[in-house]
Order: sequence, then structure tokens, then C-alpha cells
Amino acid sequence: MADDIFDGRVAVVTGSTRGIGRAVAEALLRRGTHVVVSSRDTRRVAETAEALAEVGPGRVLAHPCDVRQPEACHALIRAAVDEFGVLDVLVNNAGLGRFAAIQEMEAESWNQQIRTNLDGVFHCSKAAIPHLQAQDGGWIFNIGSLAGRNAFSGGVAYNASKWGLLGMTEAMMLDLRHEGIRVTCIMPGSVNTHFFEDGPDPFDDWKLQSADIARVITDLMAFPDRALPSKVEIRPSRPPRK
Ligand SMILES: NC(=O)c1ccc[n+]([C@@H]2O[C@H](COP(=O)([O-])OP(=O)(O)OC[C@H]3O[C@@H](n4cnc5c(N)ncnc54)[C@H](OP(=O)(O)O)[C@@H]3O)[C@@H](O)[C@H]2O)c1
Repeated sequence: MADDIFDGRVAVVTGSTRGIGRAVAEALLRRGTHVVVSSRDTRRVAETAEALAEVGPGRVLAHPCDVRQPEACHALIRAAVDEFGVLDVLVNNAGLGRFAAIQEMEAESWNQQIRTNLDGVFHCSKAAIPHLQAQDGGWIFNIGSLAGRNAFSGGVAYNASKWGLLGMTEAMMLDLRHEGIRVTCIMPGSVNTHFFEDGPDPFDDWKLQSADIARVITDLMAFPDRALPSKVEIRPSRPPRK
């Protein structure tokens, strides 16, 4: 893998204080990419940046952002460009799942999932695209889910958000590929993170690890410019039998 794919590049990773986003930030920093880490929680963002500061050669910048807020998304991208001069990669990772049957699903919970998992991707992408256009080849990774094509009971809002994200990502890919911006939907199955209410479970060793998803991103970035892997499904190889 040639270093210049990563070295001195600039990435923004939303929702990167833990789980998949943090692993992606760490993998990029290790390869020399400068990374803006972010989430809604100002304290955790600062702590994450501090913890990742020694990982480099890439440099890390802390910038809190609630992706439900359009202005905050524009400020996040501006912070990256102000600090590092350019933007090469946006990882739309911030997301959450609240699971309940339609009969019990509260409008507030529906709105929170749609606004985070779908609107947030729109706001961050809109802010990032002009800067990616200015670069010689940018990349947007949207973290979807296998729930974007497999419905399950209790998934009314989460399925809707990730199904929508898959369609949105494919449309964005078609809009942007002629401008040298590659757009990819990564669709993981179960990953052992804080996504689930009880947090990561040391006994769930059959699940994917966040580093596996980070590896998908760094491996894809090593593809030549002519190749656009636009959708990747990744799932545990040996889940418990149902
Ligand atoms: N874990 C899985 O099994 C799995 C499977 C498929 C897809 N995914 C997807 O992977 C992505 C990352 O999930 P994860 O498993 O790493 O979950 P996680 O450990 O809960 O991390 C989620 C991150 O997103 C941030 N976040 C949540 N709402 C936000 C908002 N409105 N604005 C900005 N940041 C926000 C969180 O920080 P704050 O709460 O402090 O803001 C946190 O940093 C999500 O899009 C999820 O849907 C996860």
C-alpha cells in the first residue's frame, strides 16, 4: 500500500469518540492521514483527541458536532479545512439505533434516528463536497448496515434510515463519480461496540470488531483511481445458529 494514499491526507470522521468511528480515525492516523474527530459530547471529543494524539504520524483535531444540526456540520468541515488546508475523505459514521415495534415507537425516537442516520449524512456531505471537488480525488464513506436491506421486527426506524442511506449513497455515487469523488456504502452486520444498550460484550467474540470496519476503509482507499467499490457488505463469519 503506497503511503501517499494516506500520507498528509485529511479526513473527517463523524461519531468518532468510540466504536467504528474511533477505529477508523485510529487506522487513518497510523497511516499518516490527519483526522478530525467528532461527536456531540465535547468532553469525550477532547479526550479522544488526546488519546489518539500519539498514534500518528497523522495529526488529530478535536471538533464537536451534532450531525443533526446543519450549521454544526458546516462548521465541522470548515474546522478541518482551516486547520489542514484541504479535505480528502469524509466518513459519515455517526449513527444510532433505537429498537421498538411500530406500535411502541415514539415519534421522538423515529425523528432522532432519521435526523442522525440520514439527515446528518446529507448535511455533512453538502458541506464537504465543494472541498472534495477541489481535490484530485475525494472519497465519502457512508456507514450503512445490513439492516439497510434486511428488515427485522423492531427495526422500523433503523431499517428505514439505513435503507434510505443505501439509496442515498448510490445516488450520490452516480452524481459525484464524474467529478473524481468516490462514494461507498459500507454495510456491516453485528459489530461489538457501544451501539447496543449494554455496550460491548467480551463474550460476543463471534461479532465483528470495529477494526475490521476500519480495515475495509483503508483497504478500499488503496484501490486505483479507476476503481470504485461502491458497496461492501461485511458480516461475522460464524454467528450463533438461529
Ligand atoms: N455496531 C453495529 O453492530 C453496527 C452494525 C452496522 C452498522 N453500524 C453503524 O455504525 C455506525 C457507528 O456505530 P457504532 O457501532 O460504532 O456505535 P457507537 O459505539 O454507539 O458509536 C456511535 C458514535 O456516534 C456518535 N453520535 C451519535 N449520535 C450523534 C450525533 N447526532 N451527532 C454526532 N455524533 C453522534 C456517538 O457519540 P455521542 O453519543 O457522544 O454523540 C459515538 O461516537 C452507526 O452509523 C451504526 O448505525 C453499527
